[in-house]
Amino acid sequence: MNSLFSPRITVLGSINRDLVVRCHQLPAPGQTLLGQSSSEFCGGKGANQAVAASLAGGDVSMIGAVGDDAFAASLLDNLKTHQVNYDLVQRHIGYASGLAVIAVDSNGQNSIMVVPGANSAVSQQMVQAAETQIRKSDCLMVQLETPIESVLEAIRLARHHGVRVILDPAPAPAELLPDLLQVDLLCPNETEAADLTQMPVTNVKEAKAASKQLQVLGAKNVVITMGSEGAILCQENQATHVPPIPVNVIDTTAAGDAFAGALAVRWAQTGDLLTAVGFANVAGAIAASRAGAQASLGTKEEIEATA
Ligand code: RIB
Repeated sequence: MNSLFSPRITVLGSINRDLVVRCHQLPAPGQTLLGQSSSEFCGGKGANQAVAASLAGGDVSMIGAVGDDAFAASLLDNLKTHQVNYDLVQRHIGYASGLAVIAVDSNGQNSIMVVPGANSAVSQQMVQAAETQIRKSDCLMVQLETPIESVLEAIRLARHHGVRVILDPAPAPAELLPDLLQVDLLCPNETEAADLTQMPVTNVKEAKAASKQLQVLGAKNVVITMGSEGAILCQENQATHVPPIPVNVIDTTAAGDAFAGALAVRWAQTGDLLTAVGFANVAGAIAASRAGAQASLGTKEEIEATA
């Protein structure tokens, strides 16, 4: 696999500082719990996917925003350390950088609250200014932690230039806008797939049915990530179950981002979605076996060693 080319991936998305508390169980409404530890990581679905794609062998550029606070520099430094080009990341005066408050329980499951901060200032105009970058890309990756107008504009520009689009619909949108799902690959987890389709997605059979419905709603191809159940790939109304990679789960934060970044790279390299989902499954498992967001992401060599 060493001769595979390095595809140009552009990621439009969020850049967050993650404040993580480890606890035995996630707090219920009204409950106060004592946590075991707290730590801080570089996160944000957009930045995580950018770093994941870079580590998986992509030539990655990011469109996004940080604030003018003390955290902005370390968030950008971390992109630089991972060879993610951030020329199109703006520093917005008067905004705080995005913040995610994350609780992780003893099974590695998490709950996340995001305060968008500077991510909310990512505008249609910023995306239009990045048209040249989008046009020369092999793939555009988007999620839903930046304003919906910016995401729709990026999808529109990519489609106009014949660039492949992968949408991770997280967090699930409150409203299903007609153009949002017109993408080459939609990659929700089971919760987001259930929200988008209004169908139950609690097992492989239900996920297969939901993946077909997501194609009816406009997505050309669909991958539903299901954690310990693996993933469902749906192409041309044919749903295939890709089994999970056994793993000792420490923290599932960014496992979906690891999956998406690796998938984008390997799909561009091979043209084969099933091969790409197999590779992405390993990347997701590696991220789930380690703590943190970008800190948990595996390299191409690590992924290939297990794939
Ligand atoms: O997908 C995980 C990410 O979601 C975290 O890094 C957090 O910042 C939120 O964006």
